Amino acid sequence: MDTFRYHAPTEIRFGAGLLDELGKHIRGARRVCVVTGRKSAEASGLKERIETLLHGSGVEKVIFGAASPNPPCTEVDAIGARARTARCELVIGVGGGSAMDAAKGVAVGAPNAAPVAELVGTTWPSRALPLLMIPTTAGTGSEVNQYAILTDERIDDKVNLSGPDTYPALALLDPELTLGLPVEYTVDTGVDAFCHAVEGYISRRATPLSDALALEAITRVRHALPNAVARPDDVGARGEMLYAACVAGLVIAQAGTTIVHALGYHLTLRHGVSHGRANAALIAQGLDFNYDAAPTKIGRVYEIFGATRDRAGVEALEAWLHDLGVVTSLAEYGVTDDEIGPYAAYVMTKGNTRSSPRVVNAEDVEWLLRKSL
Ligand SMILES: [Fe+2]
Repeated sequence: MDTFRYHAPTEIRFGAGLLDELGKHIRGARRVCVVTGRKSAEASGLKERIETLLHGSGVEKVIFGAASPNPPCTEVDAIGARARTARCELVIGVGGGSAMDAAKGVAVGAPNAAPVAELVGTTWPSRALPLLMIPTTAGTGSEVNQYAILTDERIDDKVNLSGPDTYPALALLDPELTLGLPVEYTVDTGVDAFCHAVEGYISRRATPLSDALALEAITRVRHALPNAVARPDDVGARGEMLYAACVAGLVIAQAGTTIVHALGYHLTLRHGVSHGRANAALIAQGLDFNYDAAPTKIGRVYEIFGATRDRAGVEALEAWLHDLGVVTSLAEYGVTDDEIGPYAAYVMTKGNTRSSPRVVNAEDVEWLLRKSL
């Protein structure tokens, strides 16, 4: 067995109704910044409930910030400036990946008093504020990993703000908070979790321990996601998905993602496709493309879907996605043949492309994209 490292410093607490215990976990903070999504926390009453719970636990000041989907760095900076002025000691991210990633940006930006876009890829001088995450979707895994995927408007691209201090201190997983998630978002986020597990499993950076977690997540999501879509009010099915997405988040914390996420970024940035669906559009063809470089692992994924490469592994995966309403043809998302050259060149600039088992050049990527049109 090769040398490996496993680092997962986030405390995980799972249980229906656990949000009521929020006050026990605020680490003595008196001033707290809560970052939510744009709409749902307000509409569902969650924002008010959190404010009440915090004040009931001795918190003197609560400031709120709202994060847009694919949160822009400047938006994070604006919330960070308010958190700095209010001298916040803790940042709570409540919502999906955008809210939690923005919360990480706020936790880094506030004590460092610098635009987060300028901190990407650097070692910032002041330690990030402690982070407490409360996911309301089952997908991103951001609650247990170090990544904050933000949009840098200056270069019109996604950037990854991460460091040793961007791991959340605590992930509070309360499946009741995901009950109201509409089917569309349940699928958007659920297939993202699926891609995290599968991509982390086949990644060059995978370890024996991340593999064990990846197989657990893939196996759970296969059944739990259709169940959560069919029975959105079933806290059991929702809990399975929330757990599986968290496990998949632990996988990518170690192993990262692959060319599939790199392919997905373009669909999100240029065609407005949700992050999860953008990855899911290419996961089956992406596995086939990588097969010869990782036949045992990719064969294992097909087996989980009751197939093998010889017995329609790609078709079984695509059928599962189509049953969930996921589109797997790039042309249906508006990708044209003219675009394929620049699209492939963009994919080659992304670090996760190099984590894929298959070593690729731009021509290979163009071939994959044309096959997926
Ligand atoms: Fe993702």
